[in-house]
Amino acid sequence: MRGTPPIQRRPVTDALRASIVEDLPEIKDIKDAELRAKVIEGWAFSLAGSSYQRISDLPGEGNPDVLVLKRGNQTDHLRGVTRLAVGIAKEMGAAYPELAIDMDVIVAGGLVHDVGKAWEFDPVNRKRWNAVQKQTGRPSVRHPAFGMHICFTVGLPEEIAHIAMAHSGEGELLVRSLECMIVHQADYTFWNTLLAGGQLKLDTVPPATRKYVIDRPF
Ligand SMILES: [Fe+2]
Ligand SMILES: [Fe+2]
Repeated sequence: MRGTPPIQRRPVTDALRASIVEDLPEIKDIKDAELRAKVIEGWAFSLAGSSYQRISDLPGEGNPDVLVLKRGNQTDHLRGVTRLAVGIAKEMGAAYPELAIDMDVIVAGGLVHDVGKAWEFDPVNRKRWNAVQKQTGRPSVRHPAFGMHICFTVGLPEEIAHIAMAHSGEGELLVRSLECMIVHQADYTFWNTLLAGGQLKLDTVPPATRKYVIDRPF
């Protein structure tokens, strides 16, 4: 057979689902029971097709080896972005109730915006991409696109799949929803705040970003 072998999946167990709620306790803040269950299924599906046992095993990085946290793992990012997005939504919603922000979409979208990282960060995938970049590209699919695939596969609503797909640079190619824009801003605020505060490993900050924190003469 040509090309990459199909993804090996281990079964999704209740223990795996329980670990996801342990790692992302904000899941309980999603009011809609079906949406809550599908957020858990999304992460379970993602992890079960990866080398990772649970979300907290994923490193605290924006992209593989890029924007690496001095302290913490991927749950610190997901929870931080979700809480920041909730904060933005509450403040803006209080000042402008006519925005009618959907808080369930904010929480669910914050928690799954990086659900594709189990694929993009997986050492097995990264080794393959490094070995056969000419055939696959590197990565073959970035985490926003893979996250969208996961969202649709487990039956998450289009609003959530859109947040996974468009929270990062891919979102510059389309018009973001209101909730996606809030999660996008929360995501960038998370990294930029830690960058400005010296809490990212500097050798993992891209040069174009690094110049704003160390190369400027004032
Ligand atoms: Fe991301
Ligand atoms: Fe993120």
